[in-house]
Amino acid sequence: MSFPVDFLWGGATAANQVEGAWNVDGRGPALTDVTTGGTVDAPRLITAIDKDGRHFTLTRGEKLPEGARYAVLDEYYYPNHNGVDEYHRYAEDIALFAEMGFRTYRMSISWSRLFPRGDEKEPNKEGVEHYRKVFEELRKYNIEPLVTIWHFDTPLYLEEHYGGWNNRQLIDFYVRFATTCFTEYKGLVKYWLTFNEINNTIMFFGPKQDRSNAGYTAAYQQLHYQFVASAKAVQIGHAIDPENMIGCMICGITNYPATCDPKDILANRHTWEKNIFYCGDVQCFGAYPTYAERLWKEHNVELDITEEDLVDLMNGTVDMYTFSYYMSSLVTTHKVKDMVSGNFSSGARNEYLTYSDWGWALDPDGLQYYLEMIYDRYQIPVMVVENGLGAYDTVEEDGSIHDDYRIDYYRKHIAAMEKAIDNGVDCIGYTTWGCIDLVSAGTGELRKRYGFIYVDVDDEGKGTYARSRKDSFFWYRNVIATNGEDLG
Ligand code: BG6
Repeated sequence: MSFPVDFLWGGATAANQVEGAWNVDGRGPALTDVTTGGTVDAPRLITAIDKDGRHFTLTRGEKLPEGARYAVLDEYYYPNHNGVDEYHRYAEDIALFAEMGFRTYRMSISWSRLFPRGDEKEPNKEGVEHYRKVFEELRKYNIEPLVTIWHFDTPLYLEEHYGGWNNRQLIDFYVRFATTCFTEYKGLVKYWLTFNEINNTIMFFGPKQDRSNAGYTAAYQQLHYQFVASAKAVQIGHAIDPENMIGCMICGITNYPATCDPKDILANRHTWEKNIFYCGDVQCFGAYPTYAERLWKEHNVELDITEEDLVDLMNGTVDMYTFSYYMSSLVTTHKVKDMVSGNFSSGARNEYLTYSDWGWALDPDGLQYYLEMIYDRYQIPVMVVENGLGAYDTVEEDGSIHDDYRIDYYRKHIAAMEKAIDNGVDCIGYTTWGCIDLVSAGTGELRKRYGFIYVDVDDEGKGTYARSRKDSFFWYRNVIATNGEDLG
């Protein structure tokens, strides 16, 4: 049997995408609360008011002009405000996860629920108590919580008043938040991830962003502050409870050269370095890699890095490497005739693969490749903490949902993971993304569904929010019950 007996089967979500209750019990806003819905072609918009009171919008990564402020505007709908109402329905949802046999549930703690502005000295008690109840509920069913401390949700106040992660002070605010989590939930939570998809800052450095040397410097600087914040959190987490197992979390895209032109092979290697290894190396090895100098030189990047930071990085290496995996991507120096473009994905089309309705390359072999590559490099436990298929689901007249495409996707990816384990990779867990339908991070849609559990709500927030079991629910339950032996 390939899967270890204590393999952590489960599912994953993020606070801002499921909870809703955006302004309830003292929670402060995050950027997602001023972000509208979008589609595969139309980007989500961030709403704001300029210094003369005029309403306007920005796209992700665009800078807020001088004197303007982010604002919730009446003329827009904000899908994250309601999410799938998990804040109020967590007990019902956890009971469903337990019914599937989950051994772990990956979730995140909303920073602004604990620290509404982000710079307070003391946490919001109601926020702290909310998550305590959630963790206790999970423990009731022997479900091990796996907690992401930061999942794209820096408090809006810190974005507006401190310039977000451009500001070194964010390290201290984050460390206070993380310390609160480790202290309050000691004994309830043991698996932690410091930053979700930390490499996105560099990997998805979008066309709307400032692509001057200053823009690149800012991106690398933000990352550096996050690396230091993560390393400090790891040290504190270990000091508070030596049982804590703390991981990095990387957006894992498997890159392949599009041709056998040596120039493409080299470009592919450099893509791995910039997009994938840069963050993993710092967080797992505790120091910047040799090629970092090359990357910085490309854009004349000069960073604020202190001696103390370097000591922190070295002392705060992670215990496990975790990553999300959705797709592979082709790298080429040649002109591309057939381009794919979807949210979060673009580039040359791989003729050997098929693509999701959102343009994501479906590639289970890429998961095996990634697992083997990463374990070979770091030799620490790894976990696949996101993998899933965003798809349109149809509810039949009798209420059933036959999502065989999702089952097929999981069957192939789990089999690929199994091969990597057979080849020696110490993979300790697998949490599917969006085990319950949720608001898409990329497009803000609800109809881009990932769940085993269907939620009756549409892109405008209309619906009963009632939960129901898709075919994949029963399939995954059997996978867990047989510890991955029967993939049906
Ligand atoms: C990852 C994120 O990028 O992919 C999740 O960690 C996100 O927050 C997931 O939801 C799937 O992306 P999307 O755009 O389909 O929600």
